[in-house]
Amino acid sequence: MSDFLSRMDGYVAAAEAFLGRQFDLGEPVPQKTVLEAMRYSLLAGGKRLRPVLTMEFCRAAGGDWHDAVPFGCALEMIHTYSLIHDDLPCMDNDDFRRGKPTNHKVFGEAMAVLAGDGLLTAAFETAAKAPVPAAVAVKNIQILSGCAGAHGMVGGQVLDLEGEDRQLDGQYIHLLQSLKTGALLRAACCMGVATAGGDDALMGAAARYAESLGLAFQIRDDMLDVMGDAEKLGKATGMDAHKSTFVRLYGMDACGKLVREETDKAIAALEIFPDRAFLAELANRLVDRDH
Ligand code: IPE
Ligand code: IPE
Ligand code: MG
Ligand code: MG
Ligand code: MG
Repeated sequence: MSDFLSRMDGYVAAAEAFLGRQFDLGEPVPQKTVLEAMRYSLLAGGKRLRPVLTMEFCRAAGGDWHDAVPFGCALEMIHTYSLIHDDLPCMDNDDFRRGKPTNHKVFGEAMAVLAGDGLLTAAFETAAKAPVPAAVAVKNIQILSGCAGAHGMVGGQVLDLEGEDRQLDGQYIHLLQSLKTGALLRAACCMGVATAGGDDALMGAAARYAESLGLAFQIRDDMLDVMGDAEKLGKATGMDAHKSTFVRLYGMDACGKLVREETDKAIAALEIFPDRAFLAELANRLVDRDH
């Protein structure tokens, strides 16, 4: 196995192990339905890209990547909550996610809203309880809350919904994507650096990598909605015809080029990190991902 794949496997296994221990009460509590709903989506097997980025940025910035596991997993809880809510009938109205029926299809809409609320709140509990110096936990909680809220992912989801059935320009779509997808990837990368105690220069580089990677990642997601295989993706395709995306604005060929360009920008931002091969390979592998 290549160095890249074995390191990737180690990170994903650490994330799965940590997440698998969450909300698994030996003694059932009366409100156990919501815990089951939270675990249903959290453990449905996403790519775990965000925790992987947190662990690797911690290592690349000179830290011990194990310290970053709780923060990467806290972010994965927020990401999973965003997907549960994103799939609701009042938002994207999707029936499949991570290869399974969406949360509300199994548990009902009200429970899916509450499962999302539970995951969002648990994320901050997880970050606050991480066994690192308090100043590191506080810094990471600042990053996480800033990127997840109304000036981050939530704000992007608002622009996404308000952009439906409208002809919007590239500048609007750029902002929409940078918030709805870029912001959580920025949290992933910057929390890794913060866990290692990295300086402002490393933090800035991590944010620039995340910004370009996020754009490339969302454009590829929008391309896969048109040309992807639902089985491989674990979610339905052809759902975005009414959405404001670069695919609708510029077409597939131009989007393929944009993904390549943004990926090259992401890789260029890594120059300051002496050991950057893994992060560069990760970005390159995401260019033609099929899931
Ligand atoms: C899906 O994210 C939502 C977007 C931001 C495009 P991922 O493609 O990372 O989904 P999982 O976590 O692997 O399921
Ligand atoms: C989702 O974007 C971004 C989130 C913050 C959840 P999409 O709506 O394109 O994600 P998918 O295609 O449903 O995974
Ligand atoms: Mg959406
Ligand atoms: Mg969606
Ligand atoms: Mg999509």
